[in-house]
Amino acid sequence: MESRAHDPLPAETEGHHPDGHQPPNLDFRGTTPYEDYVQADVLTHLQHPLSDDPGELVFLVTTQVMELWFTVVVHEWETAAEALRGDDLPVALAALRRSTHELRSLNASWEPLARLTPRQFNSYRAALGEGSGFQSAMYRRMEFLLGEKSASMLVPHRGAPRVHDELEKQLAEPSLYDEVLRYLDAHGHPLSAAVLDRDPTRRYEPHPEVEAAWAAVYAGPQDSGLIKLGEVLTDIAELVWRWRNDHLVATRRAMGGKVGTGGSAGVAWLEKRAAKQVFPELWTARSHV
Ligand code: HEM
Repeated sequence: MESRAHDPLPAETEGHHPDGHQPPNLDFRGTTPYEDYVQADVLTHLQHPLSDDPGELVFLVTTQVMELWFTVVVHEWETAAEALRGDDLPVALAALRRSTHELRSLNASWEPLARLTPRQFNSYRAALGEGSGFQSAMYRRMEFLLGEKSASMLVPHRGAPRVHDELEKQLAEPSLYDEVLRYLDAHGHPLSAAVLDRDPTRRYEPHPEVEAAWAAVYAGPQDSGLIKLGEVLTDIAELVWRWRNDHLVATRRAMGGKVGTGGSAGVAWLEKRAAKQVFPELWTARSHV
């Protein structure tokens, strides 16, 4: 972050031309321009471990890092959905491709938590109380954008108006996949009202017409815009599946078959979640090409 808003210290720079020896500015009247932009002071003081265990900080920070990646990915998918609505495939593809790199970074964040022993996790587990990633609203928005809608997922957030409003809005809006299907319909693969006018607040269920449309896309020219769209969505589906599986395996290592802090059956419940196909017809259509 370069800024020349204030003069550099005169003693260090007088009579010198900018070259490899010129040091960075040290003198700022208020907070640094870096701080003004990044708010690092705020960000690095949002960590409040609940136990004395030295291993808890990385658990907390990894969770916070993942929340930030969820936020970026939601932004990309909303950008893509809006672009598709406006018939702008290049902008949609760019946002979706960015999100695949972000999802890879998100998934790499599992590394510090991937090999917790039950004793290590137990050291701070009790301090988490009923807290669980299940209550992550930003993760829920990701799931809603993928088509995994559920009004009951708003219930835990009744006490947090801003979060609740954002989730409610996302529930009522067409998902990213709904916009993709409208785009398919408008570009040579007509779909019926059962698909196009479905209730957007309900979980997306696979439809044979959609499978046939993707099969036709994949049987067609291999450099088409629709194949590019299909492939980047398939990357996303795979990366989301990887996140769910890495989470599942980390959980199995850390707590075996115990119930979750959020009250679910734990690993058995996560197994069912991980088995769900993201963008289902993009997978099943491959059998018909
Ligand atoms: C190794 C440490 C972790 C363990 C043992 C663990 C365990 C669990 C369990 C048992 C559940 C099921 C709900 C429950 O009863 O609590 C769950 C859900 C969830 N966890 Fe974790 N978790 C871990 C780390 C994380 C991290 C770092 C995140 C990042 C935000 C996260 C995000 C989530 C999400 C989003 C769900 C809901 C999944 C869904 O709705 O399908 N978890 N976790």
